[in-house]
Amino acid sequence: MSEVVLQDVAKHYGDAVAVRNMTLRIADGELVALLGPSGCGKTTTLRMIAGFVDATSGRISVGGRDVTGLPPNRRNMGMVFQNYALFPHMTVAQNVAFGLEMRKVSRADAGKRVREALARVRLGQYGDRLPKQLSGGQQQRVALARALVIEPDVLLLDEPLSNLDAALRHEMKIEIRQLQQSLGLTTVFVTHDQDEAMSTADRMVLMYQGGVEQIGPPAEVFGRPRTAFAAGFLGIPNLLAGRMTPDRAGFAFEAGPTVRLQGQPPIAGRAFLALRPEEISLSTEPPATGRNALAGRVEIMTYHGSAVEYQLRTDAGPMLSARLRAPGLGGQPVLPGGTAVWAHWAPEAGVLVNEH
Ligand SMILES: Nc1ncnc2c1ncn2[C@@H]1O[C@H](COP(=O)(O)OP(=O)(O)OP(=O)(O)O)[C@@H](O)[C@H]1O
Ligand SMILES: [Mg+2]
Repeated sequence: MSEVVLQDVAKHYGDAVAVRNMTLRIADGELVALLGPSGCGKTTTLRMIAGFVDATSGRISVGGRDVTGLPPNRRNMGMVFQNYALFPHMTVAQNVAFGLEMRKVSRADAGKRVREALARVRLGQYGDRLPKQLSGGQQQRVALARALVIEPDVLLLDEPLSNLDAALRHEMKIEIRQLQQSLGLTTVFVTHDQDEAMSTADRMVLMYQGGVEQIGPPAEVFGRPRTAFAAGFLGIPNLLAGRMTPDRAGFAFEAGPTVRLQGQPPIAGRAFLALRPEEISLSTEPPATGRNALAGRVEIMTYHGSAVEYQLRTDAGPMLSARLRAPGLGGQPVLPGGTAVWAHWAPEAGVLVNEH
């Protein structure tokens, strides 16, 4: 069993807090993605788990064993660094064998394990090459083989796909997920890319300013962001400030009008209505009753292949983004800048989120 538990783990650099009171339980065989913007503490968290950074406070355990004070080589973890960190003067096979030599594994045994690890990442024929003779994706796979060859209890990946092009990134993230599942490896995957987190993780930890903002299965976090930061980071640009009405059936925008809510948990105090651009429809006539509607004007219209995006000025506060199907694909005729419109949506499409 290699369940990883972080209990109130923090890292301070002088007065600066890189990670604040992080408590997280990663189940045996689970893949957890740490997701968040630059500087939110993802790498610091990963390095504390690996032992490269000492926690200022808190405890870390693996499989019930407290590893908080142990150096990296006594934690039996495999780590892939963002920049691969391969040794340029060593061959692929020597790079992969490095961790085994450190562990005093016999030469014959090491040779066999290196061959197996390279085969697993489909680089069986590349053992004698130097890293510079490989493509970026192949180098990334060498780094993965090097992390796996020691048969780690835990696999730690720090933005492992960030230097790859889109196609290779897609292929590699599927490969990593398959390997992780077939080996049943407890894995922490750091990324700032929500698609990567979405398509690989069992659970996602959204981090913000050194703390945990939200934890859950990706579909749940995407579908129900709990804070304005989470909603914005997960790609919902429309966040309209206001408050629930006392009967909890409506939302009064700070800027004036009130709309209806449906299926939203109660939130006391200032909150935001998060609206996905795809949920908003536009019409030049008032919409049917039952829809929430705001009167406004098209400010900017831009084409995006199969969609047309509108920036709208309404009386509910900040500019509103709406994304409609392009006319050539069955969407309505384009509404040029300056057109007076109604922006409308189904009450259940609005997600109510906390300010913090
Ligand atoms: N050795 C250090 N000394 C001082 N501050 C540090 C040190 N390492 C990290 N920090 C600070 O801690 C915070 C978290 O850094 P960290 O590298 O964990 O962020 P990150 O989420 O991995 O960001 P990125 O997505 O850019 O890699 C940042 O504000 C950073 O400047
Ligand atoms: Mg980082």
